[in-house]
Amino acid sequence: MILIDGKKIAAELREELKKEVLSLQKKYNKIPGLTVILIGNMAPSQIYVRMKEKAANEIGLKSEVIRYPDSVEEKIVLDKIDELNKDDSVSGILVQLPLPNHIDKQKVIEAILPKKDVDGFHPMNVGNLSSGYESSVPCTPLGCYLLIKKIEPNLSGKKAVVVGRSNLNGKPMTQLLLKENCTVTMTHSKTKDLKAECLKGDIIVAAVGMPELVKGDWVKKDAIVIDVGINKTEKGIVGDVSFDEVSKVAKALTPVPGGVGPMTIACLLKNTIECFKRSN
Ligand code: GUN
Repeated sequence: MILIDGKKIAAELREELKKEVLSLQKKYNKIPGLTVILIGNMAPSQIYVRMKEKAANEIGLKSEVIRYPDSVEEKIVLDKIDELNKDDSVSGILVQLPLPNHIDKQKVIEAILPKKDVDGFHPMNVGNLSSGYESSVPCTPLGCYLLIKKIEPNLSGKKAVVVGRSNLNGKPMTQLLLKENCTVTMTHSKTKDLKAECLKGDIIVAAVGMPELVKGDWVKKDAIVIDVGINKTEKGIVGDVSFDEVSKVAKALTPVPGGVGPMTIACLLKNTIECFKRSN
């Protein structure tokens, strides 16, 4: 079984991106900039944003985090986004989710200029991705896609099963696999006989947020299995895939942690550089 080392593959990608930042700096005499807006003090968001900031600095991007208290008015955030949209030194804008209830998430997402939308959440980018046009692609599914391609460069005709239909992961993941000519089945919490659906997959991407949902006997022999889940349980952090069981049948599997997580951050850096290139 191939243990897909997301940490190592992400480090290699960051190394490449670091070189690219240097060459862009030479070419344009400026560097790509990422601005993250963080609202409130939820611990996971704080940790993720710190990791994003550190990774951006390490590859030589200009990086800035703007913090607001939980109680911040929506208008303050929208005005700040407007200001960042107009700021040429800002290539990419990310508003860390989730947001407090009094702030309209969709309004915030739509306020970000599509060309600065490093998350790929703006309806324009979502539409372009599903139409097969150039777009920002959400970081986590992009990271999963790169991991899958490392194991299997030719995905044409493969059967892929995506478990979970979120806007963040499942839906864009499906689009990326379709673009590679996979036959994709998108499953979710109301799918009947999820096990039978999973068993059809040459590739399984699990992104539902249910601890160890995908069992060993749900997986075809030699399937590639990507585990997006990060679930807190009594025995610690586990994914959406039962690692011990599935590692005995799969050809390749991502660990949790150390699989998809590091790729998400590396892909955010990649998207920031892509936004910079598209703007210049
Ligand atoms: N919160 C959890 N994952 C993400 C992500 O990919 N982007 C943003 N903006 N917020 C998140």
